[in-house]
Amino acid sequence: MAREQWKSEWGFLMAAVGSAIGLGNIWRFSYLAYEHGGGAFLIPYLVALFTAGIPLLILEYALGHERIGSAPLAYAKISRRWEWLGWWPVCFVLFGIMLYYSAVIAWCLDYFFYAFRLAWGDDPNTFFFKRFLQISASPAELGEVRTPILYGLVAVWGLSWWIVYRGVQRGIELANKILMPTLLLLTAILVFWSLTLDGATTGLKAYVTPDFTRLSDPKVWIDAYSQIFFTLSLGFGIMIAYASYLPDRADITGNALLTAFINCGYSLFAGIAVFAVLGFMATAEGKPLAEVVSKSIGLAFVAYPKAMSLMPGGNLFGAVFFLCLVVAGLSSAVSIIEAFVSAVVDKFGTARGPLVTGVCVLGFLGSIVFATRAGLLWLDIVDHFLTHYGLVLVGVLECVVIGWFFDLPMLRRHVNRISPIRLGKIWDLLIKGFVPLVLLVILAGDLYQDITQPYGGYSWTALILIGRDWLLINLALAVFLASRPWRTGNHRHPGRGLL
Ligand code: ALA
Repeated sequence: MAREQWKSEWGFLMAAVGSAIGLGNIWRFSYLAYEHGGGAFLIPYLVALFTAGIPLLILEYALGHERIGSAPLAYAKISRRWEWLGWWPVCFVLFGIMLYYSAVIAWCLDYFFYAFRLAWGDDPNTFFFKRFLQISASPAELGEVRTPILYGLVAVWGLSWWIVYRGVQRGIELANKILMPTLLLLTAILVFWSLTLDGATTGLKAYVTPDFTRLSDPKVWIDAYSQIFFTLSLGFGIMIAYASYLPDRADITGNALLTAFINCGYSLFAGIAVFAVLGFMATAEGKPLAEVVSKSIGLAFVAYPKAMSLMPGGNLFGAVFFLCLVVAGLSSAVSIIEAFVSAVVDKFGTARGPLVTGVCVLGFLGSIVFATRAGLLWLDIVDHFLTHYGLVLVGVLECVVIGWFFDLPMLRRHVNRISPIRLGKIWDLLIKGFVPLVLLVILAGDLYQDITQPYGGYSWTALILIGRDWLLINLALAVFLASRPWRTGNHRHPGRGLL
């Protein structure tokens, strides 16, 4: 069976941007920026983009394109020994990140409907934590499933199923060609609207004024690097699969730069609306900006709704805001499912239709735990371990395996032969040495912090069982899948650089 392909390079770019731009750009980026003092976060964020994000994105595109395969196939073509490294991320991203990611999209969908009638009243904090999530006291107390979230999950998984089921061109490419321009338009409306609010400039000042003293805090750097992984979908196995659907001739470097700049530009742009609204709230409530939000993770669901209740036409503003989150989230969700589906099709030759259906049903069932009353607590732990350890570790291993156990100069020559912007030897040095070293330092810092102080104040049992073991169980699954025999023989075909 011929490998699926994008209809056009533009379609590929939209799909890659669709994967990159997601909840991470609005929900995650803004709460991290807020937590780390606004402008202070932008410096490590940009440093992480240039020192790890862009070189790695080029690497993932190059790998997928040259080896013509999803992550497991691409690594298997390097050596069967490394196949598990392709399976591990596609497993823990689908059966981990995607499970809570779909729950957050479900919250956004619920909030989209709540926005029309400003359902949270004048106390969005109580509404979000006590009435909507009905958050329990500890991760061990799951409590019942929250029906509004469950309905949201049905919609999110249903829509994602429909898009992925239709295939690469008629599903993913088409959906992103519609969703991405829509998202940009909606976001532009929000940004310009937010700038007309009283006090917007107070927020903007906090957003662009760097506080250099914050740079000495390792946590700011750790969060910036893991955010770059999350936001560019690096270490997810997605970008490898997406690049494998490109034709022989495609501008790898140019597309990587465009994806990275559009994605991060979008975050910075959307951040304007977030901070302008915070400035508006600070002014309306007569409080300093740093005090308008108590729990940063609830920024989008607490601070924003509060501002919507205060501003004229707030219900419409709210609806547009949550619709943006839903659209951004869906296009990323689809890419996560595709990374796994593509891997299974590559290895076992399974028919796409039933496979997508099976994966979505399993995923839906798995995500229900995040719809329980302990959902937010589980999400917090799983997100921490999977993004801080899982993604970053995959990034390190990716650099080591491709840099040291594969022909990196050949990969560079392949990219240079088809891309107008040429990669210099410096890229080899970055991949072989600098990037993995920086990531290892970040990992070590993270580990040190987590060992000296249990993350988020949770019990060790919860952190080990829900966090660490989530990664380990998926690792076991990855090793198992890698040990299965190849049904398609795809792994025996050479890469493009060797043709
Ligand atoms: N890259 C996606 C996001 O930022 C996963 O949400």
